[in-house]
Amino acid sequence: MPPLSIRVLRVGHRFVRDDRTLTHLCLVSRALGAEAIYLEEAEAELVQQVRDVNESWGGSFEVTVGTPWRGVVQAARKDGRKVVHLTMYGLPLLERVGELKKFTRFLVVVGGPKVPGEMYHMADYNVSVTNQPHSEVAALAIALHEIQGGEELKRDFGKSKLRVLPKERGKQVITE
Ligand SMILES: C[S@@+](CC[C@H](N)C(=O)[O-])C[C@H]1O[C@@H](n2cnc3c(N)ncnc32)[C@H](O)[C@@H]1O
Repeated sequence: MPPLSIRVLRVGHRFVRDDRTLTHLCLVSRALGAEAIYLEEAEAELVQQVRDVNESWGGSFEVTVGTPWRGVVQAARKDGRKVVHLTMYGLPLLERVGELKKFTRFLVVVGGPKVPGEMYHMADYNVSVTNQPHSEVAALAIALHEIQGGEELKRDFGKSKLRVLPKERGKQVITE
């Protein structure tokens, strides 16, 4: 089985400044096995912040800002990706994950305050992480974990300036 290739899309313009949510979407996507995220809008500092994280902690996670969401979805489909839209109104993740595991290339879509109805039709799968309202960050983390069967937790980020030496207590960071 070839390695999974997962990209993330955040649909929706910002009605309020939600920089913290966007930062968390980037960091969670990067840490939990996605290779890139598309954001419709974001501050320039966010892109730099993620570059700095890559430089310190490894990997080559990419942030793309400003591509309209329909274009991202269409390009993903042409690129052979299954489009998995996370929504509290979708079918339960645990009912769908067995089928999702047959594929290797994904675009995982999360919303913000409001997701256009068209997204539900463009998605290959509309999947819920419980049918209760919560957060795109939480829904994304759980979906990434289930799609990858936990393999993302074993990933090595390769060459990096900083590396944590895991310890029962205290903090130790190795500088390369
Ligand atoms: C603040 S919520 C918006 C909730 C909104 N009522 C909806 O789902 O259309 C923002 C995003 O979080 C994700 N989300 C929230 N709850 C979810 C759930 N139970 N299952 C899957 N995704 C969820 C969806 O991607 C949603 O677009």
